[in-house]
Amino acid sequence: MIVLSKIAEVRNALRQVRRADKRIGFVPTMGYLHEGHLQLVKTAREQCDYVVMSIFVNPLQFGPNEDFQRYPRDLERDRRRAEAAGVDLLFAPAVEEMYPDKVLTRVTVAQVSEPLCGRTRPGHFDGVATVVTKLFQIVQPDAAFFGQKDAQQLAVIQQVVKDLSIPVEIVPCPTVREPDGLAMSSRNVYLSPEERTQATVLYRSLQLARRLLAAGERRASAIRAEMVRLIEAEPLARIEYVEVVHFPQLTEATTLAAGDQLLIAVAVRFGQTRLIDNLIIKLD
Ligand code: PAF
Repeated sequence: MIVLSKIAEVRNALRQVRRADKRIGFVPTMGYLHEGHLQLVKTAREQCDYVVMSIFVNPLQFGPNEDFQRYPRDLERDRRRAEAAGVDLLFAPAVEEMYPDKVLTRVTVAQVSEPLCGRTRPGHFDGVATVVTKLFQIVQPDAAFFGQKDAQQLAVIQQVVKDLSIPVEIVPCPTVREPDGLAMSSRNVYLSPEERTQATVLYRSLQLARRLLAAGERRASAIRAEMVRLIEAEPLARIEYVEVVHFPQLTEATTLAAGDQLLIAVAVRFGQTRLIDNLIIKLD
């Protein structure tokens, strides 16, 4: 595995790869790699000849009171994990390399960026869309792999690629979970043991929604209410949102009908830690 930190070096290295007609797969990350990231690499390996991973904690996507400074970082450990997973090129730039000057250009995706996490994290998806567009310009991958856990991010990126005609296939990959159902996330390390135990309520609430839908419930408000009741039973949980929306448009769903593709999404705080999870389901 080669490790590079400069944009020009990455472009040079990938020029050779492209010349050899290899299909390039790309896994963008913010590091502190867990099994979810490694599954993205595994899928990329299966579908591509050459796998590039980026590790970059992108300041543009953090709000002023968010965890940019304390976001977990361990490049040496990530380097070992990426290599063992089969990454061919690891791109780990410094902030100064990605943003040497004040950034005056942003990629903004209207509508899809606005509901759910967009409400409490203004500017977050502009930061994501901007850095991912920039990374796509640098790597020029044939395919890019994103976890479904960040379903709104996935919808935003799919919209960017469509609207800007970026020639990359976006491959959504299933959420990887701990044995008790908690979705893997680099932020799980922030949880105290008690919060960690109660945090399984996100997954449990989604399972409840699945059961209600399977039993024929078609009122989004009733599904939400049951989920809220379950989450509120955990004393440390503070709900930010519980939503039922159409996917990938992210428009509100009220009465659900056959053929609807739904995103049932939750964001819950435990102390300072904000966790998200979701279920994407198509109704028969
Ligand atoms: O999902 C993430 O880790 C980040 O939002 C991404 C896509 C790497 C952009 O910084």
